[in-house]
Amino acid sequence: MKDLSRILITGGAGFIGSNLTLELQERYPEAKIMVLDDFSSSNFKNLKKFKGEVLACDVSTDELFFKVDDFQPEVIFHLASITDTTITDQELMMRKNVDGFKNILELAMESEATVVYASSASVYGNVREQVPLSEDREPSPENVYAFSKRIMDNIALSFAEKTGLKVVGVRYFNVYGPGEAHKKKYASMIYQLYTQIKEGRNPRLFKYGEQKRDFVYVKDAVDATILAANSPVSTIYNVGSGEARSFNEVVSLLQRYLGTNYETIYFDCPYDFYQEFTQADMSKIKKNLGFVPKYNLEKGIKEFVEIMEGKIPHYVGG
Ligand SMILES: NC(=O)c1ccc[n+]([C@@H]2O[C@H](COP(=O)([O-])OP(=O)(O)OC[C@H]3O[C@@H](n4cnc5c(N)ncnc54)[C@H](O)[C@@H]3O)[C@@H](O)[C@H]2O)c1
Repeated sequence: MKDLSRILITGGAGFIGSNLTLELQERYPEAKIMVLDDFSSSNFKNLKKFKGEVLACDVSTDELFFKVDDFQPEVIFHLASITDTTITDQELMMRKNVDGFKNILELAMESEATVVYASSASVYGNVREQVPLSEDREPSPENVYAFSKRIMDNIALSFAEKTGLKVVGVRYFNVYGPGEAHKKKYASMIYQLYTQIKEGRNPRLFKYGEQKRDFVYVKDAVDATILAANSPVSTIYNVGSGEARSFNEVVSLLQRYLGTNYETIYFDCPYDFYQEFTQADMSKIKKNLGFVPKYNLEKGIKEFVEIMEGKIPHYVGG
């Protein structure tokens, strides 16, 4: 069992990172937790309840080594990354995401830390069949963001082989939940649709809303990420709900829990190719880590709405 008493979280002021940070704080109150973030896509309010240290730093710079100094983490959760998938500056994406990851691996060497890093289901690319995607599927990144994640996966596995350090990728599918407002148009579709309905607008979907996605609630994503620190092997795990659900279902659940009944407006999809279907094959993470998601779409959206409406408390934010 990996000691979780000194933990470094990069990207800890972001959406998943802040949920992870505050869950770790709750589970390991004695642990020293350090957050490192360049605040390029975050909101400090996500960490209002955080009791530890926060460093402003870009992981792709040498300043990282100076800033982290003698902290000597046992585990590094590396979530820092450009997350705007529409950025087309290839050099920028590769420098920030891939060079940043290499710096983190070098830092891990100093204290022999286990590294859990965020990969992405986008590496699977434009899948045409409606099948659950397993980790050994040939990657086919379609934008430079996905490409950077694919290269991180390659580096992770060869680094782990060369050094014997534990490096574990968590390949998130479509994560949603509290704490993603700062992502604006790159926030999850569930957040976007929630906002449209709350503002009294009709929910808008590409024709005819029957495309399906594997939507995973952030609490499940966080659970899986923490379990990954104790993976018996260096590898990559899909992190999804294991179910493919349609955008129409999302709208109808949001309306059910918000008590509204707006008509959905369908419009033409402007893209040449738009994925019809994603679904994570969750057998590997279940077998190796015993992870089974606790939230299906109904339960996840219900809790998300209750938190957003202030009906139940949540540690991220106010
Ligand atoms: N949200 C999803 O559905 C999803 C899906 C697949 C993968 N991921 C991955 O999960 C991780 C977290 O994503 P998120 O949804 O929380 O997005 P986010 O944008 O909220 O979080 C990313 C965080 O990293 C920080 N950051 C960016 N570049 C940095 C750098 N060079 N140095 C230091 N900090 C930097 C940002 O300020 C932000 O706090 C990312 O690696 C992302 O690629 C997310």
